[in-house]
Amino acid sequence: MEIDYSKRSFSYYPTNAIVYATCIDGKWSAPVVTNDFNLSLHCFAGVFHYASCCFEGLKVFRGVDGRVRMFRPDENQKRMKSGADYLDMPAPPMDLFMDMCIRCVQENWEYIPPYESASASLYLRPVLFGYNPQLGIHSADDAMFVVMASGVGTYSGAKSLMPGTAVISRNYDRAATFGSGGYKLGANYAQSLHAYNIAHRLGYRELLFLDSATHTHIEEFGSSNFFAIKGNSYITPDSSSVLPSITNKSLRKVAEEFGLKVERRTVYVEELESFDEVNSCGTAVVITPICRIDDKPALEDGTVTREFKYADECGPVSRKLYDRIIGIQKGLEEDTYGWCTFINEH
Ligand SMILES: Cc1ncc(COP(=O)(O)O)c(C=O)c1O
Repeated sequence: MEIDYSKRSFSYYPTNAIVYATCIDGKWSAPVVTNDFNLSLHCFAGVFHYASCCFEGLKVFRGVDGRVRMFRPDENQKRMKSGADYLDMPAPPMDLFMDMCIRCVQENWEYIPPYESASASLYLRPVLFGYNPQLGIHSADDAMFVVMASGVGTYSGAKSLMPGTAVISRNYDRAATFGSGGYKLGANYAQSLHAYNIAHRLGYRELLFLDSATHTHIEEFGSSNFFAIKGNSYITPDSSSVLPSITNKSLRKVAEEFGLKVERRTVYVEELESFDEVNSCGTAVVITPICRIDDKPALEDGTVTREFKYADECGPVSRKLYDRIIGIQKGLEEDTYGWCTFINEH
């Protein structure tokens, strides 16, 4: 069966198998591989009530040399561990996390897109959730960890680096100042879904969230981090309520390599006027240039009070950063940082 990955977007597409393990009374089971995607769960499991859930997303690529690479999976384990610690629930240790990701790739080998399929990849979605039956408000004692996969394109379909529009969210916040925004919890996404739906209905690709305390500085997009280029600087917000993006972390390294000054600091909405290039970045979106940002008092209100405009194509500095990251992921450039984990078929 020949899959046309150029027609795929960033969505769920069926694959062969998932891999799961449970942690009961503090002890992790051996991983189980199954082609039954319907898990059996107790309806009192904590995940259904108190959203005891955190998840990850990482990509697997077939390189120009035919070898299969997984991008920075250790960073995903560390971030999942930080989320599980925040939720006071067990987290899969590094060796189990890595082993289950590798198994999931091997079991779904035929869904790793060919090298030629541009920005397509096998996307892994590791999910950790509260498993034991419970009623009162407390953290889950037991957990289930599942790694699943989908052969995906980008959010914008076949074309990468397709610019999109964004709108500033002034009447919906993603994360509280001292809240959970810095962890990849399912609950954070539940918080943003309604606002996202409004933005999408209005035709915007992205929603730009501000700090919830003052609504004066930029936090991140609903699906990704924010970064801007101004002259020789790579500028990205520094805030404990922003998800620490692995893509952004990698881009900062590459930016330094290119001699850019990396500024990780408070970024004010007013500064949007002065930026040369504005982008969203993340595993799913890779780098998506933003060509316009609208500012409105309320998402539902038709009045646009300010409009920040950028080029209709990816800026030259962002393009260079993109090429270097994709080059490492697809084996076109030397992986000087040791970011890729190679996987053999079996
Ligand atoms: C809210 C949010 N911020 C940032 C990111 C980017 O993080 P990463 O680069 O680790 O995928 C994502 C996507 O995973 C996200 O959902």
